[in-house]
Amino acid sequence: MSAIFQKPIVLITAGPTREAIDPVRYITNHSSGKMGYAIAESFLEKGFAVVLVSGPVTLKLAHPNLTNIAVTSADEMYNACRPYFLTAQIAVFAAAVADYKSAEVCTQKMKKSGNELNLRLVKNVDIAYEFGQLKQKGQLSVGFALETNDEEQNALKKLNTKNLDMVILNSVQDEGATFGYDTNKITIINQDLVSRTFPLKSKKEVGKDIADAAISYANNQSSFQQTLKTNHHELHTV
Ligand code: PMT
Repeated sequence: MSAIFQKPIVLITAGPTREAIDPVRYITNHSSGKMGYAIAESFLEKGFAVVLVSGPVTLKLAHPNLTNIAVTSADEMYNACRPYFLTAQIAVFAAAVADYKSAEVCTQKMKKSGNELNLRLVKNVDIAYEFGQLKQKGQLSVGFALETNDEEQNALKKLNTKNLDMVILNSVQDEGATFGYDTNKITIINQDLVSRTFPLKSKKEVGKDIADAAISYANNQSSFQQTLKTNHHELHTV
């Protein structure tokens, strides 16, 4: 077994997913992966082993304690996470996963015909929700809420529906926040309904704030401390 599993493990999803329509077209979104990669870097700097499951991005990250898994679609992202989730102490769902995929993927390039084209979409797996159902005592899950309106209300709904311990709210209404920027503005809300809003910062600093908040929340949960004690690990916020 590789050395990575001798350290506490953080599973992180990052970037967009791409859902194929035909061999040359797909549905996606504007995620660059910067936020998820910054979180991965922060946990690595704190001595965790990180499993980073990333959709298609141009970013590169290398570290001896990093397992980097490149995926394309939501189904691939879910399947890549599955072997790691149950051994992860912390899971952070930072990816912008496409909620829908094409019901049929044409094997040949679709030909142009007529003025309209109707595409039938079907629901994708909700990765954060599925792992929320499997979560055991001693595991901490952190999700994101990417909102355009009714921000807090929607974030709280995601916190509860997906059985998250912590939700990171970011809004496209905030200048310099969310997709593609090197900066982000977040509010962290945890299950105790304690909420903290941070100013606009570099994603690197935001990644550190998220890692610090997750570790400090975990340190206050006796079940989580027990898991780490069993594995002879201690968590530190630095
Ligand atoms: O990548 P960047 O350019 O740096 O941008 C960062 C970001 C805006 C992508 C990031 O900060 C962010 O908000 N990520 C979550 C985007 C999103 O899909 O949010 P959501 O509110 O639609 O989803 C809620 C949560 O469920 C998220 O944790 C998401 O990862 C998860 N989810 C959603 C749908 C799905 N099918 N599976 C999931 O796991």
